Amino acid sequence: MFAAQTGQDMTYVPKLAPAKGFATELRAFIALGARGANVTVPFKLEAIAIATQLSVRAKLAGAVNTLCFNGDEIYGDNTDGIGLLRDLMQNHQLKLAGRRVLLLGAGGAARGVLRPLLDEQPADLIVANRTEARAQRLVAEIGPAISSVAAVSLPSLAGEHFDVIINASSAGLDEAGTSPLNGVSPAPTGEFAYDMMYGRETQFMAHARAQGLRVADGLGMLVEQAAESFYLWRGIRPDTKPVLAALRADLGNKH
Ligand code: ATR
Repeated sequence: MFAAQTGQDMTYVPKLAPAKGFATELRAFIALGARGANVTVPFKLEAIAIATQLSVRAKLAGAVNTLCFNGDEIYGDNTDGIGLLRDLMQNHQLKLAGRRVLLLGAGGAARGVLRPLLDEQPADLIVANRTEARAQRLVAEIGPAISSVAAVSLPSLAGEHFDVIINASSAGLDEAGTSPLNGVSPAPTGEFAYDMMYGRETQFMAHARAQGLRVADGLGMLVEQAAESFYLWRGIRPDTKPVLAALRADLGNKH
């Protein structure tokens, strides 16, 4: 859709690599004359290892979701963080500076957005995870110099208030769309709840809606990170709004 919108002659195809065959698949793709690729779960760490050059944001995220091929060079970048920020701040008109932000989860998805969120200078950025030690490790990696970021357990969120609550856990991937806040009582209150998942209403979203929070899913993040990848490959910034609207309509038709 971006290519059609900007008049770019390109082909973008899905490729399924075998679990142990990412590098082989990628090299075969490059040999075909490919100029770039997006990389998704579970290969974002392998992609960082195969890159010959990395952007600062890929190094900070510890993962690569975008590759650019140029001769023998494989450049790795990460557009997930900027994708989330653009969705929050432009599409949802949210201010993060000076706000109290809760990030749920401490896996790859949380790691990829932690530094970009911090760069917006929230008053507090609390990372809460089921396994608290994992959240502690993630925060420790960011460095001790930043006093506004802290790691906590899920139960300690009881009764707390946040301006923005972001679900970066994979809890909602199961059939029931489980919320990481299930069992936290009383549930933390907030103004805006964002689930990085898209395609269905998760329990996290449903509970937040029932509490009166403004709620969004991660479809906008998907489109915005893709737009940033497109920009890396083609040097043109596509208009994300019509693409997001078309995907939203398409999802609506399937549910
Ligand atoms: P991803 O790369 O998608 O982040 P991951 O590295 O497997 O995937 O991390 C999944 C995250 O979701 C973790 O923070 C995980 O918590 P643990 O570190 O305790 O495993 C969190 N998560 C998964 N299922 C969950 C659930 N049912 N309740 C709360 N947190 C959950």
